[in-house]
Amino acid sequence: MKIAIGSDHGGFALKQELIPFIEKLGFDVKDFGCPDENSVDYPDVAFAVAEAVAAGEFSRGIIICGTGIGVSICANKVKGIRCALCTDETMARLTREHNDSNMLAMGARIIGSEAAKGIVSTWLSTPFSKGTRHIGRISKIEKYEA
Ligand code: RB5
Repeated sequence: MKIAIGSDHGGFALKQELIPFIEKLGFDVKDFGCPDENSVDYPDVAFAVAEAVAAGEFSRGIIICGTGIGVSICANKVKGIRCALCTDETMARLTREHNDSNMLAMGARIIGSEAAKGIVSTWLSTPFSKGTRHIGRISKIEKYEA
């Protein structure tokens, strides 16, 4: 599975730690930046990752900023993206099971790197539960988007 990852300066250090971690889990990872801790605007990175996922170039996307809020707001503006801001593994599991989220947002100033690793591995390994009620609710999101 191909994973797109991106961050602003606030999430840069966490992104650098997560890339080898995700690769060790067996996934291909493409880094959409930012390339260092110099200040960038989180919408630029979040839209680039979200558009690549929406276009089908990547199965999933992971985006990180200081709080995770800015990048998640941006990603959820892109048609076809269901981005979940997660602060623990329960949220990561439930958003895969219930929302079939295709993007994960995290806040590097909110959670530590061990928590982030747990969230990422749970989110990447949990399947959508495909229950009728969940499919119907996602269809309503897709109808609204259309
Ligand atoms: C950058 O200072 C900060 O605003 C950003 O990382 C993020 O937290 C926005 O939601």
